[in-house]
Amino acid sequence: MFRLSIKDYTLILNRDGVKTKLNYDPVKGMMFRRQLPEYMQYLAPKSENIWRDSDQEILLIGGGLSNIRQWLRKIGVQSKITNVDFYTDYKSTVSHKHFKEDFYDWDIPLDCYDQEWALWSLPTYALSKTELETFFIKAVLGLKPNGILRVFPINRCPGDMNSSNVEYSKDQRKTDAICILKKIEKLGFDVKIFYPQDMEYIVDKIQMSDSNKDKKIYSMFIKHVSNRRRKYIEKEFEQYQNKPKDKNAIAVNITAPVKKDVKHIANVKLNKMLYALTR
Ligand SMILES: C[S@@+](CC[C@H](N)C(=O)[O-])C[C@H]1O[C@@H](n2cnc3c(N)ncnc32)[C@H](O)[C@@H]1O
Repeated sequence: MFRLSIKDYTLILNRDGVKTKLNYDPVKGMMFRRQLPEYMQYLAPKSENIWRDSDQEILLIGGGLSNIRQWLRKIGVQSKITNVDFYTDYKSTVSHKHFKEDFYDWDIPLDCYDQEWALWSLPTYALSKTELETFFIKAVLGLKPNGILRVFPINRCPGDMNSSNVEYSKDQRKTDAICILKKIEKLGFDVKIFYPQDMEYIVDKIQMSDSNKDKKIYSMFIKHVSNRRRKYIEKEFEQYQNKPKDKNAIAVNITAPVKKDVKHIANVKLNKMLYALTR
């Protein structure tokens, strides 16, 4: 259950007796409009670009107001963007399709997405182990064979939750995430865990690349992202890079089995796991 009050920028969440309020104030509250360069920086390791040209369908899980659609259109990537998030503006054009829903209540279409991106959304806002596990299981069910789920971070919870009755700590999230990821791996998914040390600062990542798309992204980054925000991105990334791995935020990329029949068998098992969690 969620209730959103746009007037005082509050999201009230109440699930299974765990309650929390999140602050959406554009200045004091959560950040919910990160743009493509930040997704590129945090969701793909150093050596990789975030998208594959053949990808058609991209799902943003908790994409907020990140205008990924506009960035991709300007660089000539035709992928269709779907965003599932509590928060939306009726005039929003950040995605082609928008579901104003709680991801946990949303019926994710099976085998539908080439990529799913969750940046500072879920499982960060999971209120319990059940929710964290439900997030990973539902998200990978939605992947096409060879589709990729990219998540950062898997082991953090937002500051707002400190004033609520959410007791789910970041260390516990890490343990639980690693455990469910091992189960998903056994079903034939490729699971790659990485740290900010394995990522690359977005300006370096784009400047080192000889792709024309990346060059366009770089000029858009300079033109459309304020100097203040660019400085913030650089400083934040530097802080992550300097944190020891055992205390650092963790990213994960999960690739679905390439073969349709292997994904199909995995789906049957994942649905059983989901049923056991939601019973
Ligand atoms: C900190 S914002 C990040 C938004 C965007 N990904 C970005 O990086 O700017 C977290 C987003 O996750 C969304 N969110 C959290 N839990 C969710 C859930 N259970 N279902 C749908 N959206 C959720 C929030 O509404 C919010 O827009």
